[in-house]
Amino acid sequence: MLITLEGIDGSGKSTLYKGLTERLADLNIVFTREPGCPHIGDAVRRAISENSDPLVEAALFVADHAVHLATVIRPALIDGKIVISDRYSDSRFAYQQISLKGYHKDPKKWLTDVHKGWSITPDLTFLLVIPPKEAIRRVSGRGETEHFEQKEFLEEVQKNYLERVKEAPSRFVLIDATQTPETILDFVEKSIREKTEAK
Ligand code: TMP
Repeated sequence: MLITLEGIDGSGKSTLYKGLTERLADLNIVFTREPGCPHIGDAVRRAISENSDPLVEAALFVADHAVHLATVIRPALIDGKIVISDRYSDSRFAYQQISLKGYHKDPKKWLTDVHKGWSITPDLTFLLVIPPKEAIRRVSGRGETEHFEQKEFLEEVQKNYLERVKEAPSRFVLIDATQTPETILDFVEKSIREKTEAK
């Protein structure tokens, strides 16, 4: 079973992920993330921090996804394991659909085509939804901000996420990310336990 966590920067996704690694330690889950695969992950991080060409960035995110699938996700799913990934392909549809504007005639079509035939759709996706203004307030408290962390940009990213929900409502669970981290963690932990026990 493949479970993903998604949300704009500052939505509390990483805090949730960390909490789940502690709370669900008994379930033998494979915890993983995108971007972050060996060799490509470093190149992606560098591309993000240097605000490089959007085409380079998008290609690296896709390459990272391919390595992630080949080395982590596919083997774990074949083994019958539960996989929880902090970000996955929905991040590409939410973020690169914006950054690729002007570089591809139809970024959404390019993103759809580039994943077709080899990527795996998650069984369940928790989407943290938060007013972008609040998300910016949270990330600006962390010090240096990445180029993705601008209010107008994050507004559009969140819109794209919500479009994805409309296209596949049964896959998504929406979470009000203004709730306390503890409340969110309790809810997601309970949902994952219920879903995985029902399998
Ligand atoms: P992180 O904040 O979860 O570490 O992710 C790093 C940034 O990369 C974040 O701003 C979202 C962005 N991102 C994309 O733009 N496209 C992608 O496909 C992924 C996985 C992340």
